[in-house]
Amino acid sequence: MYNSFFGLRENAFNLSPDPAFLYRSPQHEEALANLIYGVQSRKGFIALTGEVGTGKTTMLECLRDFLGGQRIPFAYIFNSRITPDQFFEMLAYDFGLPGTRFTKTEVLFALNNMLLDRGRAGTTAVLIIDEAHNLDWDVLEEIRLLGNLENRRGKLLQIVLSGQPELDLKLDAPQFRQLKQRIALRFALHAFTAAETEEYINFRLAHAGLANQKVFDENVAGMINQRATGIPRLVNLICDNSMLIAFALNSRHVTPEMVDEVCADLKIDAGPAFTDLRRQPVFPSRPRKA
Ligand SMILES: Nc1ncnc2c1ncn2[C@@H]1O[C@H](COP(=O)(O)OP(=O)(O)OP(=O)(O)O)[C@@H](O)[C@H]1O
Ligand SMILES: [Mg+2]
Repeated sequence: MYNSFFGLRENAFNLSPDPAFLYRSPQHEEALANLIYGVQSRKGFIALTGEVGTGKTTMLECLRDFLGGQRIPFAYIFNSRITPDQFFEMLAYDFGLPGTRFTKTEVLFALNNMLLDRGRAGTTAVLIIDEAHNLDWDVLEEIRLLGNLENRRGKLLQIVLSGQPELDLKLDAPQFRQLKQRIALRFALHAFTAAETEEYINFRLAHAGLANQKVFDENVAGMINQRATGIPRLVNLICDNSMLIAFALNSRHVTPEMVDEVCADLKIDAGPAFTDLRRQPVFPSRPRKA
C-alpha cells in the first residue's frame, strides 16, 4: 500500500519465511552452515532451536533451497501434532515412496530401499521436522529408530529437528536420553543485538529497493530493537506498521512517537529485559573453521 510512496518495489517487512530476504547475521550464517554441514557429512540428527520468531523456519526454507539445488530428496513435516500412523503417511507422500496403503511396514520397507539406493549412489536423503517441540513421545521414538539406518559411510537418513526452546527441554528429559545422545549437531538461535537489528532493517529495505534508507534513523532502530526484544518477527511487525503510520501522515521518516503508537496498538511492550533473550553461549559441535 505504501510501497511506491517510500520507493519500494515490494513489501520489505513481510512475515513469511522468505529466503530471498535472508539477512545473514553471524548466527543465521552459522546455523545454516551447521545444517548444510550436518547433511553433507551424514551426521544423522541435527537440532535447531530458538525462541518464537527468531528465524528457524527461514533457516529450514534456506536448507530446502540448498537440497533442491543438490537434488537431495527431502520430506518436510511442518505439522507436528500427528500420530505415528500419520507420520508414516506423511513420510511416504513427501518422499514419493511407492505403495498404496502406507502402513508403517510398507513405508519402512520402501524408505529403506530408497535410502539404500541413495547410499549406494553416494548421496543421502533428509527428513526435516519443523515445530518439533510439539512431537509426541511415540512419534519421536519412531524418528529415533529411523536414525538407526546406516551404512559404513554414515547415516542414510539425515534428520533435522527444529523447534522452540521446549525442544531442548524435551531432549533433556530422561526418557529422551537415547535420542539426545544421537544428536550430532545442535544450534540455538537468539535475538538480534541492537546493531544487528539496525543492519537487518537496512538490509530488508535495500532488498526491497530502498538502498541507503532514511526512513528509520539509528535512534528509532535502537528503539525498535528494544521494543521487539531483538526478535526479527516483531521487528518486521513494528517496522511495517510504523511505515503505514508515516505514510498516512505523509512523512518519509518514522519517529519514536510513531513506534510508540504502533507498540501500544499491537500491545507490544518492552517485555522482559531484552538482555535476557540476547545471545547465550551456543554449543556447536562443529569446529568453526571446516
Ligand atoms: N535472518 C533473517 N533474515 C531475514 N528475515 C528473518 C531472519 N530471521 C527471521 N526473519 C524474519 O522473521 C520472521 C519470523 O521468522 P520465522 O518464521 O523463520 O521464525 P521462527 O523461528 O520459525 O518462528 P516460530 O517459532 O513462530 O515458528 C519472518 O518474517 C522472517 O522472514
Ligand atoms: Mg517457524
